[in-house]
Amino acid sequence: MDLFEYQARDMFEKHGVPVLAGAVATTPEEAREAAERIGTASGGVTVVKAQVKTGGRGKAGGVKVAKSADEAQEHASAILGMDIKGHTVHRVMIAQGARIAEEYYFSILLDRANRTYLAMCSKEGGMEIEQLAVERPEALARIAVDPNTGIDDAKAREIVEAAGFEGEVAAKIEPVLKTLWTVYREEDATLVEVNPLVRTKDGDIVALDGKVSLDANADFRHPDHEALEDSAAADPLEAAAKEKGLNYVKLDGSVGIIGNGAGLVMSTLDVVAYAGEEFGGQKPANFLDIGGGASAEVMANGLHIILGDEQVKSVFVNVFGGITSCDAVANGIVGALDALGDEATKPLVVRLDGNNVEEGRRILAERAHPLVLIEETMDGAARKAAELASQN
Ligand SMILES: Nc1ncnc2c1ncn2[C@@H]1O[C@H](COP(=O)(O)OP(=O)(O)OP(=O)(O)O)[C@@H](O)[C@H]1O
Ligand SMILES: [Mg+2]
Repeated sequence: MDLFEYQARDMFEKHGVPVLAGAVATTPEEAREAAERIGTASGGVTVVKAQVKTGGRGKAGGVKVAKSADEAQEHASAILGMDIKGHTVHRVMIAQGARIAEEYYFSILLDRANRTYLAMCSKEGGMEIEQLAVERPEALARIAVDPNTGIDDAKAREIVEAAGFEGEVAAKIEPVLKTLWTVYREEDATLVEVNPLVRTKDGDIVALDGKVSLDANADFRHPDHEALEDSAAADPLEAAAKEKGLNYVKLDGSVGIIGNGAGLVMSTLDVVAYAGEEFGGQKPANFLDIGGGASAEVMANGLHIILGDEQVKSVFVNVFGGITSCDAVANGIVGALDALGDEATKPLVVRLDGNNVEEGRRILAERAHPLVLIEETMDGAARKAAELASQN
């Protein structure tokens, strides 16, 4: 899960990373009130910042300095509702204005290729960091961080030296990097990025913009992270699936997909998209991995979600019986259809293979549900499902 900047700011503050005062607002009036409060510490100057989960807000006109509360209100009314790379701005953050002397860059991320963490740091931060990384990679220090030791005194020194900081500035940045490491580790993040990390004219080091991505695999350790979720932005079907503990991603095709195992489901999407070309470009409607135990209940939950998608015209159930045998899956499908009753209205193409396949197919054939079609091969089933989708 990616956080909004204001959430990252709050998280930074909680761990002791130096940040400036900031408040989130959803209307120009709220922005004005926030600017009146926050601006007092900075001579009335605030910065109105679009809160969207994408980069390049500044360049898109989503970050504006206001010299008064009136101006903050004006900027907020211009920025709220703006579209930044397909993201509509629903909130702005009013931040205290900083007197910036220099802008730096710092991030910690997961380096999968090298099985470690990576710290990146540069004296030249700000809005052009991607360009800097491409054009002058030597200006961006990259230092591996051992997960066991993290960023301690020695590592912090190594990072700031590699980035070319010296003397008093280096000494002031080091503890901030250590604190940012604490955020990364204690919150189970996969990314903590500060751009810009600034030195103010008073000589303080402050995180002016923060990006944090949290590792959903560690959610069980962080009950407080749930509150950070942007439920308003979630797709209603995805939200319903999540509630049922299903691995579901909404796509925009017409063939509903249920499979077991992420790999099988991914290849099912490919096969359906390929087969669909012959039938006017039918595409998969979703990704849904029901995992190992394809019980009637899980199958019913999955079908319920998929049938709730208006775009779905046919459903392809593609299961390979491994640990769960095909007869159990077949019973699951039959049980699910019985449980759904009239709700099941779209044709279901079922392909079963693997452990106990004969018995599985027999159970489905015996039940002879009018909506169920049994196909023996994955390609054949994909083709059939695409064809049915094109006819409905
Ligand atoms: N509180 C602040 N006070 C003064 N100037 C600021 C403040 N916040 C941001 N700025 C200035 O605006 C620039 C852009 O802000 P910021 O980094 O938050 O957005 P961005 O980098 O454009 O957005 P993104 O991170 O989405 O690419 C900063 O580099 C800095 O110069
Ligand atoms: Mg930035």
